[in-house]
Amino acid sequence: MRKSVIFSIIVAILIIIAVAVALTVVLTRRSSTIEKTTTTSTGSPGSTSIGTTTTSTTMLTTTTTLTSTTTTTTLTTTTTTTTSTITTTITSTTTTTTTTTKLMFINNTNPKWTSEGYTFAGGNGYGQNLSQLYYPRSIFIVDNDPQSIYIADTGNQRIVEWKYNASNGQVVAGGNGRGNRIDQLSDPIDVFVDQKNDSLIICDQGNRRVLRWFLQNHTDPQIIISNISCGGLTIDNNGDLYVSDYNKNEVRRWSIGDINSTIVAGGNGKGQELNQLNYPTRIFVNRDYSVYVSDAENYRVMKWIKDAEEGIIVAGGRGGGTSLDKMYMTNGVIVDHLDNVYVSDMANNRVIRWAKGSQEGSIIVGGNGSGNQSNQFISPRGLSFDQQGNLFVVDMYNSRVQKFNIDIV
Ligand SMILES: *[C@@H]1O[C@H](CO)[C@@H](O)[C@H](O)[C@H]1NC(C)=O
Ligand SMILES: *[C@@H]1O[C@H](CO)[C@@H](O)[C@H](O)[C@H]1NC(C)=O
Ligand SMILES: *[C@@H]1O[C@H](CO)[C@@H](O)[C@H](O)[C@H]1NC(C)=O
Ligand SMILES: *[C@@H]1O[C@H](CO)[C@@H](O)[C@H](O)[C@H]1NC(C)=O
Ligand SMILES: *[C@@H]1O[C@H](CO)[C@@H](O)[C@H](O)[C@H]1NC(C)=O
Ligand SMILES: *[C@@H]1O[C@H](CO)[C@@H](O)[C@H](O)[C@H]1NC(C)=O
Ligand SMILES: *[C@@H]1O[C@H](CO)[C@@H](O)[C@H](O)[C@H]1NC(C)=O
Ligand SMILES: *[C@@H]1O[C@H](CO)[C@@H](O)[C@H](O)[C@H]1NC(C)=O
Ligand SMILES: *[C@@H]1O[C@H](CO)[C@@H](O)[C@H](O)[C@H]1NC(C)=O
Repeated sequence: MRKSVIFSIIVAILIIIAVAVALTVVLTRRSSTIEKTTTTSTGSPGSTSIGTTTTSTTMLTTTTTLTSTTTTTTLTTTTTTTTSTITTTITSTTTTTTTTTKLMFINNTNPKWTSEGYTFAGGNGYGQNLSQLYYPRSIFIVDNDPQSIYIADTGNQRIVEWKYNASNGQVVAGGNGRGNRIDQLSDPIDVFVDQKNDSLIICDQGNRRVLRWFLQNHTDPQIIISNISCGGLTIDNNGDLYVSDYNKNEVRRWSIGDINSTIVAGGNGKGQELNQLNYPTRIFVNRDYSVYVSDAENYRVMKWIKDAEEGIIVAGGRGGGTSLDKMYMTNGVIVDHLDNVYVSDMANNRVIRWAKGSQEGSIIVGGNGSGNQSNQFISPRGLSFDQQGNLFVVDMYNSRVQKFNIDIV
């Protein structure tokens, strides 16, 4: 009896050991399979190959890889063996996503652009075909919609919309010959989109007026301001309109619903004192309502802080010349989130960046003489960034718009 009892106990113990061994083998195999597939997916973040082993992981990967850190926590409780590998995958994926947004550009104190431009629009000689531009002056890119790029096609008396990778533009205003009828333009030199009102605001220079041209029906343009020597215009985030006047040497602001305007820069006659301007053209308004003015014949850019009595020189102001502390006729001006000022140095055929407080600029693109190569311009004018920080330059006498990709390294 005792012997058989002992024997039974031994048999029972053996069975338990056998089952335990078998379980261990199964579990080990399972986790090594997971590790293997996980490793594969590390090579290509965002792929869904993890899903071939465990359903729960598949769900998490396909739905939330790019968006949340919560994913990591959930995974930790699901399969302990693979947590660290999977976590790495998700982290690297998130980083990749971040570098492609504008934040990278904002935080990079020394961004660079490719020196060779890509012809985004025109470049087919000057003429009035829809594949052509004729001495364009300005460009406007709608925020949050890189597909909507508007060009003041000055010599063709029209505004065209040019989508990414398109071979043709589309006329959205004018295009009815030069003239002063309400549906005609005469040397439109600047344009922007008033998104709140779905309309274009056009600096119709030759007609000494500013027009609103609705994008939906194109039929009912309105004169917003008349009798003005418009050199450039823009809008702030309240919808207030700013227009420079190169005859009166001033920039004025028109607030919505107010027929009266206010001088926000210049207005003290033509001259080179800090409270004066000499042929103001392009303007830029930042989030603090400071106005940057391309003060063309003073070869400088002035910044007028809101309600200031005089401006601050933020670029040039040392006469005309080719050295890096000088410019020769300024045109397009844009400002980034670090207050770096980018200026079209027209007669030097280059675009210069002036860092805040610096005594000289640095060449961003161009500076290789006048010509039609991809690193050259003939009289660069309007400038714009898209959301990624790529730089667009209107290359007037080459009748093209050049795009310079930002180099994110
Ligand atoms: C950029 O800088 C701002 C302000 O310093 C900061 O809040 C933001 O997180 C930074 N973004 C990146 C991607 O580093
Ligand atoms: C203008 O367009 C027409 C038709 O699309 C084409 O036949 C002609 O060659 C073009 N002209 C130029 C100068 O590109
Ligand atoms: C334009 O074309 C290039 C090359 O064909 C492509 O990589 C890019 O995604 C396109 N851009 C847009 C906005 O369609
Ligand atoms: C939209 O345009 C109309 C017509 O010119 C104008 O009365 C109105 O103030 C504009 N609204 C905005 C938000 O600009
Ligand atoms: C054109 O559209 C604008 C805004 O969408 C509207 O205010 C205006 O009355 C329209 N004009 C015509 C002639 O339909
Ligand atoms: C236009 O403005 C000028 C001053 O800049 C003034 O002398 C002239 O009378 C104005 N013309 C009209 C029609 O208001
Ligand atoms: C516009 O200016 C005139 C003259 O300075 C003034 O009488 C009028 O009240 C102002 N209108 C508004 C809406 O501020
Ligand atoms: C174009 O100009 C830039 C800036 O001066 C310079 O770095 C680059 O080498 C020039 N390219 C050529 C081909 O001369
Ligand atoms: C580019 O410039 C060269 C030299 O001036 C000229 O021969 C050529 O026709 C130009 N090309 C275009 C597309 O304008």
